[in-house]
Amino acid sequence: VFHPYALTLLLLLFPPPAKYGGRHTVTLIPGDGIGPELLTHVRELFRFCCVPVDFEIVSIDSKSTSDDDMNNAITAIRRNGVALKGNIETNHNLPPSHISRNNILRTSLDLYANVIHCQTLPGVRTRHRDVDIIIIRENTEGEYSSLEHENVPGVVECLKIITRKKSLRIAEYAFNAARQNGRRRVTAVHKANIMKLGDGLFLQCCKEVAAGYPEITFDSMIVDNTTMQLVSKPQQFDVMVMPNLYGSVISNVCAGLVGGPGLVPGANYGKDYAVFETATRNTGKSIANKNIANPTATLLASCLMLDHLRLHGYASMIRKAILATVSETRLHTADLGGQGTTSEVVQSVMREIESKGPRTSEQI
Ligand SMILES: *[C@@H]1O[C@H](CO)[C@@H](O)[C@H](O)[C@H]1NC(C)=O
Repeated sequence: VFHPYALTLLLLLFPPPAKYGGRHTVTLIPGDGIGPELLTHVRELFRFCCVPVDFEIVSIDSKSTSDDDMNNAITAIRRNGVALKGNIETNHNLPPSHISRNNILRTSLDLYANVIHCQTLPGVRTRHRDVDIIIIRENTEGEYSSLEHENVPGVVECLKIITRKKSLRIAEYAFNAARQNGRRRVTAVHKANIMKLGDGLFLQCCKEVAAGYPEITFDSMIVDNTTMQLVSKPQQFDVMVMPNLYGSVISNVCAGLVGGPGLVPGANYGKDYAVFETATRNTGKSIANKNIANPTATLLASCLMLDHLRLHGYASMIRKAILATVSETRLHTADLGGQGTTSEVVQSVMREIESKGPRTSEQI
């Protein structure tokens, strides 16, 4: 049986995760907005399912200007290898020297591959059916270099960095993920007609890597056409690979296509560490602490994390229960047009798990 969102993601790249007395320790960063509330539900659900994971909670104060919180969090993830996080708010009014905490975390840990899987789910009403796209986004360079300057007043230079090394690395990751998941096609998204050198290099690297995967069709598409094709005929896409900023835009378009930010989980992988969060990186501040946020994306992110820890039995048990709950339109939260509350959805997931009977160690 194929389960949506159950991707095989290059487990071979990782050293075996730390494990003490049969239990794993994972860093939990609550973040801002709906993060703390939803991650509390993850802990509740893990306790209910007797998942052998202990959380080390590390808070990052988005209002603080000191780096202490951030350094603590990064040290904790280095120690545990794995984290589950809410999004940390970035204040746009702070000086340019204040770099997004989310961005610092990803670059410090070299979490180079952002992976999101957008798939239409039965029970969620969307304009398009049968969308099933894996997006692989370069997560550490491109437009996110935070290298900007205004040497001449009124003239800002904002640098986009594309390197051969990192482009080959993300292309290799994308083709490998395509192969491991039995996918047929990889599309590189670019704007090489305008950024001939930068995006040209990215595209060239994808072509070189493609040569090593003869069973996978490689093609490329200009980013503007890509967004149009996505909203008109999204079924044509399979695996997509792209530089950082296009990744941000395309991920959000695709999440919207399959039902919105409340549904889609996201993962960030590097050679040594992995951090799990929602696919769209927003805090949901306006709906925080009202018991109305859709917990699905965060709960599914916790399943991706369990798969990463090779706790596949727990991951699939929880994932099945979540998907069964999502297919019950009666329980939908407001983002999906329903009246269900966050805790009603979580309780339904627990009931689904319970209804499958006692969990034996063979199942897990
Ligand atoms: C956009 O993509 C479609 C589908 O692959 C293709 O047929 C079309 O030629 C492309 N248009 C442009 C302007 O590149």
